[in-house]
Amino acid sequence: MEGLAGKVAIVTGGGGAIGRAICRRLAREGAVVAVLDIDEAAAAETARLIGSTGGRAVARTVDITDYAAVGAAVAAVEAAAGPVDILVNNAGWDRFLNFVDSDPAFWDKVIGINLGGPLNVTHHVVKRMAERGRGAIVSIASDAGRVGSSGESVYSACKGGMIAFTKTLAREMATRSITVNCVCPGPTDTPILRSFVGEGEQGKKVYDALQRAIPMKRVGQPEDIEGIVAFLVSRDAGFITGQVISVSGGLTMHG
Ligand SMILES: NC(=O)c1ccc[n+]([C@@H]2O[C@H](COP(=O)([O-])OP(=O)(O)OC[C@H]3O[C@@H](n4cnc5c(N)ncnc54)[C@H](O)[C@@H]3O)[C@@H](O)[C@H]2O)c1
Repeated sequence: MEGLAGKVAIVTGGGGAIGRAICRRLAREGAVVAVLDIDEAAAAETARLIGSTGGRAVARTVDITDYAAVGAAVAAVEAAAGPVDILVNNAGWDRFLNFVDSDPAFWDKVIGINLGGPLNVTHHVVKRMAERGRGAIVSIASDAGRVGSSGESVYSACKGGMIAFTKTLAREMATRSITVNCVCPGPTDTPILRSFVGEGEQGKKVYDALQRAIPMKRVGQPEDIEGIVAFLVSRDAGFITGQVISVSGGLTMHG
């Protein structure tokens, strides 16, 4: 990947499964990675793993639903590592619940993390990028936001919202040399997916059925997502903006 060496990248949810894979990949490409997560130990572990293989990383604990706290975290990252060139909005959360069984408190939590959170982080970061006239933003949305996903109505609404936000921000930032793109994982083997499929014999049945439904006959792994993210924030993708790319083994295909 061209042009990532020495770049400063913020990855939210960098302590989680997909986030950690993205952080480690960006560090291998030479970026200085700021691992942001609400889970202090998980963020520190990602930074430790990067450091143990010769990469550069800083960890910061932040709740992305808190606009002021995000602003302080972004300022601290810039003070420690320099101007932020790359933002990966990856932090997310959901519990599987049919819409009729859910309530407004649950909607607020899902919306706060999956839509409000990325807006908070992007607002603080993109203003700085716009002043400098450079930057690359990738948001991890979901195929749930493109084609829906039973038990994930409000989460799907947030992810669909992130797709529309990406396209609009891409238009607004195009003349400032800032690219804004979206990656949509399909089912990926992480704690979120495991909580959906469940445990034991029944869980195995659901997992096997999922694999059968995917044209490439396997569930995605966190490492399947990192490459497209690294590409989209690299110089190789400098003329690509406002795009939405699924990483789903062919489960979803759009014309
Ligand atoms: N696993 C899948 O099948 C799948 C499919 C499509 C999209 N995604 C998306 O991929 C992204 C990563 O998910 P994952 O599967 O690696 O899950 P994960 O639970 O392993 O990681 C999510 C991370 O986000 C962090 N986080 C949650 N709330 C936060 C907050 N308020 N502030 C800061 N950090 C917070 C968590 O601590 C965790 O480290 C999410 O946006 C998710 O919606 C996952």
